[in-house]
Amino acid sequence: MAFPILTPQEAAELINHDDNIGLSGFTASGSPKVVTMALAERAIKEHEAGRPFKVNIFTGASTNKWADGALANANAINRRTPYQNTPDLRKRINSHDCHYFDLHLSELAQKVRYGFFGDIDVAIIEVAEVMDNGEIVLGTGVGNVPTYVKHAKKVILELNAKLPKGIYGLHDIYLPLDPPNRREIPIYKPSDRIGSPTVKVDPEKIVGIVHSDSFDGIKGFTELDDTTLQIGANVCSFLIGELRAGRLPKSFLPLQSGVGNVANAVLFGLAEAKEIPQFEMYTEVIQDAVIELMKMGRCKFGSTCSLTLSDKMEEEVYSNIDFFRDKLALRPSEISNSPEVIRRLGVIAMNTALEADIYGNINSTHVLGTRMMNGIGGSGDFTRNGYISIFSCPSVTKGGLISNIVPMVAHVDHSEHSVDVIITDQGIADLRGLDPVQRAQVVIENCAHPMYRPLLREYLSFGKSGQTNITVEAALAFHSAFKNNGDMRTVDWSAYGF
Ligand code: COA
Repeated sequence: MAFPILTPQEAAELINHDDNIGLSGFTASGSPKVVTMALAERAIKEHEAGRPFKVNIFTGASTNKWADGALANANAINRRTPYQNTPDLRKRINSHDCHYFDLHLSELAQKVRYGFFGDIDVAIIEVAEVMDNGEIVLGTGVGNVPTYVKHAKKVILELNAKLPKGIYGLHDIYLPLDPPNRREIPIYKPSDRIGSPTVKVDPEKIVGIVHSDSFDGIKGFTELDDTTLQIGANVCSFLIGELRAGRLPKSFLPLQSGVGNVANAVLFGLAEAKEIPQFEMYTEVIQDAVIELMKMGRCKFGSTCSLTLSDKMEEEVYSNIDFFRDKLALRPSEISNSPEVIRRLGVIAMNTALEADIYGNINSTHVLGTRMMNGIGGSGDFTRNGYISIFSCPSVTKGGLISNIVPMVAHVDHSEHSVDVIITDQGIADLRGLDPVQRAQVVIENCAHPMYRPLLREYLSFGKSGQTNITVEAALAFHSAFKNNGDMRTVDWSAYGF
């Protein structure tokens, strides 16, 4: 069957105001690049003509400047889920121009299938190849594509010329049945392949193919500084301690690593930590650092939802695709992040916090409790189910104006019940088996920056009753001090009657 070739503008004309749109990809990897741009231009024209034009965007995770960025800039997103990270969309969410609801990434596909958010009207999917029978080979990110194309009324394909034919075989596409018919997902080690290298799309739904020609547009990471290097070294020394104590098998367990600069530094640390044996990853994003670890022979295999690589690294992987083919499996989010598989494989979860409190609760998403940063992503999928769940962050931010260790987090993403270990540049707080007051003492002494320890010790001394000795009237005093004076160190306990 020959599918019509469309311009991005012609494809955008097939989309209506208030449509539910499913996008391919996971992070900027594999996200659409040209139809969403044309859709943003169309929205601007509609707004200029005085007509409403906003769509609801469902993705795998964050996207890119050509999708979330352009559509948010045009104020063309009504509802959005799950993870995002472009500055324009963040602004729209925090000013209530866009209704954003945050969700664990493993859950979105099944919730779409259950019909919780209405029909998917259009799926816009980046592909490396399309066959006459509608089968498609995806690009660098899978996300929720199998569900979106199954449930969409129309499918628009973006055929990206930058994606090499050799990418065929990297993907492992598996769609679980829904309750009451769901069975276990038969992955018993990260490298097990259980599905198909292609996604099957009903050819009747494919309304057209649009050509594109661009890498994913991902920048490299910020240079590692002393703080992030120290965090990476502390995570590795914790893992080595666990190996020596026999709490991790000698053959090691699969690793998951979160997103961002700190996560990148942790991976960098693994390159140096030779006492940690060769390892596998069961994770949702593979960043540049993992590719380096593969080239060095440190990482044997990566099960992931996306290859979130800088353009330079993307090009390098394509030039050596045969080397990487048996070292990578790209899976849908509900498989890469499956709580059932994560718990069974014994994945070591390593994620980053914006702030942690002395009791072990984690805020990953809301700056000072109110402003949405990115979203929970897959951190909850892995943290709640990991063999050991580690959170790391710098002890202070903004030159010390903000302590990332606070009396109480201003928003809870991961509760004390799911968090085993907190690690900062200052050290390691192993919370396993400790009661709340013991946890608070260890977090203050091992993880808080020395300039904040006296304030935190004083806070802890105020609480005289209850198992968790929170002092409710002063619990958010650090945040108030920052809000009022721009510096958490200005907290004045006497204002709270102490
Ligand atoms: N209060 C206010 N701002 C804070 C802060 C705090 N407690 N902690 C950090 N920040 C600011 C930093 O100063 C920085 O600001 P800048 O952009 O103006 O420089 C910004 O937040 C990012 O901080 P950084 O230390 O560079 O963090 P990162 O790049 O390692 O990302 C998260 C950290 C938490 C934002 C990121 O990991 C995330 O989005 N996590 C949630 C999703 C997730 O974990 N997914 C992984 C699952 S696999």
